[in-house]
Amino acid sequence: MCGIVGYLGHREAYPIIVKGLKRLEYRGYDSAGIALYDGNDIKLSKTKGKVADLEVRVESEISTNGSLGIGHTRWATHGVPNDVNSHPHYSNSGELVIIHNGIIENYEALKKELTKRGYTFKSDTDTEVLINLIEDVKNKENVKLGKAVQIALNQVIGAYAIAVFDKNKPDEIVVARLGSPLAIGIGEDEFFIASDASPFIEFTNNAIYLEDEEMAIVRRHKGVKIRKIHDDSLVAPYVQELQLNLEEIEKGGYEHFMLKEIYEQPRAIMDTFRGRLLTDEAIIKMAGVEDNMKKFLNANRIIVVACGTSWHAGLVAEYIFEDLARIPVEVEYASEFRYRNPVITENDVLIAISQSGETADTLAAIKMAKSKGAFVFGVCNVVGSSIARETDAGAYTHAGPEIGVASTKAFTTQITVLTLMALRLARAKGTISSSDYRKYLFELESIPSKVEKALSSDNHVKMIANIYKNASNCLYLGRGFNFPVALEGALKLKEISYIHAEGYPAAEMKHGPIALIDEQMPVVVIATKKGHYEKVVSNIQEIKSRKGKIIGIVTEGDTSVKELADHVIEVPETIEALTPLLTTIPLQLLSYHIAVMLEKNVDQPRNLAKSVTVE
Ligand code: G6P
Repeated sequence: MCGIVGYLGHREAYPIIVKGLKRLEYRGYDSAGIALYDGNDIKLSKTKGKVADLEVRVESEISTNGSLGIGHTRWATHGVPNDVNSHPHYSNSGELVIIHNGIIENYEALKKELTKRGYTFKSDTDTEVLINLIEDVKNKENVKLGKAVQIALNQVIGAYAIAVFDKNKPDEIVVARLGSPLAIGIGEDEFFIASDASPFIEFTNNAIYLEDEEMAIVRRHKGVKIRKIHDDSLVAPYVQELQLNLEEIEKGGYEHFMLKEIYEQPRAIMDTFRGRLLTDEAIIKMAGVEDNMKKFLNANRIIVVACGTSWHAGLVAEYIFEDLARIPVEVEYASEFRYRNPVITENDVLIAISQSGETADTLAAIKMAKSKGAFVFGVCNVVGSSIARETDAGAYTHAGPEIGVASTKAFTTQITVLTLMALRLARAKGTISSSDYRKYLFELESIPSKVEKALSSDNHVKMIANIYKNASNCLYLGRGFNFPVALEGALKLKEISYIHAEGYPAAEMKHGPIALIDEQMPVVVIATKKGHYEKVVSNIQEIKSRKGKIIGIVTEGDTSVKELADHVIEVPETIEALTPLLTTIPLQLLSYHIAVMLEKNVDQPRNLAKSVTVE
């Protein structure tokens, strides 16, 4: 939800900010803008569209010199995406300028007050209200910018990561955070501000991640001073050394990030295993689980909260935890859970799953569960993210940066972590025999090479994509462990190709969706061996009788489905509970190829954002 970048130092700010914004476009890409201080005045340029459109606009509009600047890439909340609503926003005097990621919830009341005091507004945004509130405080109270920001933020309800500068004080940027991420990169006599570290990774490995309710004044030659917004106390800066490297956030020869990330899955799953899956010793080691074993073993139930693709991983976990560890599991959309007064006790364990670790609803669900005494465990990809910090313990997925908006490797690595957890708990509870446990461990070890094999169907999947690319609807069916995979397959197609798709439990088809089936309807059926195979084959018969087009995802060497289906895509054989890690692969490829053939923007689908930091 919006990406922010700032620079204060000795280099030209413009190229750093533009490159940084491009890296943050996964957070929003409906408009973009930049404000630079050229030694005299603020030069501002902004436009509806992507950062590439901004570059064109900048060329004809402003000079790009200056070593202080801020930039923004937007995912609209208040006010449609257009030039005027794009960030940065000036204050009425034109002296202050701001970029903002988040929502100011009480902006209407504040706007009314400011209007009464003579302020005028060009845009429909909450952000323009905030910068004028800061200006008003600054003038009224006769304070410096940092103090004015602090006083203003104490009047604000909502979420924000902001960066502000004053043209009369071109040696400082003031930043603040509540609910939206903000990192400060510390270089040699230069500072970088960004929503994550990717915009500055080639310049410095040292970064400070602001905590909620913290603000910082970043001063040229003088460094960073951090304070609590609400009680004004000073906070000692904690400078972290980043592990991120540049290659991980570049396309590396692939046409799209999504394809790169699909192909990275064997490596990503291996990274998830590293140090945890110790097959020779027949153990699974997970510090977050070991240290809290009692909490898990005494839990009445596990509640999983997540959104989007992560919620689908949670559904797979429900099947695996219940099957292996015999712990009751409920899976909840974080956005519903947080608002429905759920019964939570101290004997509940909440597992929050989130790729970004920043999803606002998931974060709020965690806070609520913690306040009721539940133990909260996080499964996140982004190291140091808000959810990773807010949870009592956790396990990282170690998938590496996922940049394509449609989640792929995050999903399979989430399932991998959750499977390891379920197995570890099953072993501790004694709900799995030692021989079955060993069988799982050996099989898990072979998963990366089986994913590799599943990827080798790519050309065949591409051919199938070409046949169905013009479909208007598509149905995805699966049962058991593969029901959530059907949901995920449908979500992938919707997200990036804009074809309407629905995932359904195969047996439920006859309670509704079967009415949709005719010769125009492609139906993707996950029909791997074991896992109610015969029942799924009967469902395939039912589709065939109604002339639906069947694309079967089958186990290598399958013959029965082959006879019935229009096409089959094979995946290697594995233990039933592990099939989601393989059946997901062709579904990712199918949606990818259809979207490319339809000339859609695969990595940045319309209206979506990768990190949803607003509720
Ligand atoms: C957005 C993304 C999805 C993601 C969901 C949850 O909708 O586009 O890909 O699954 O948020 O995000 P999280 O970071 O919490 O997994």
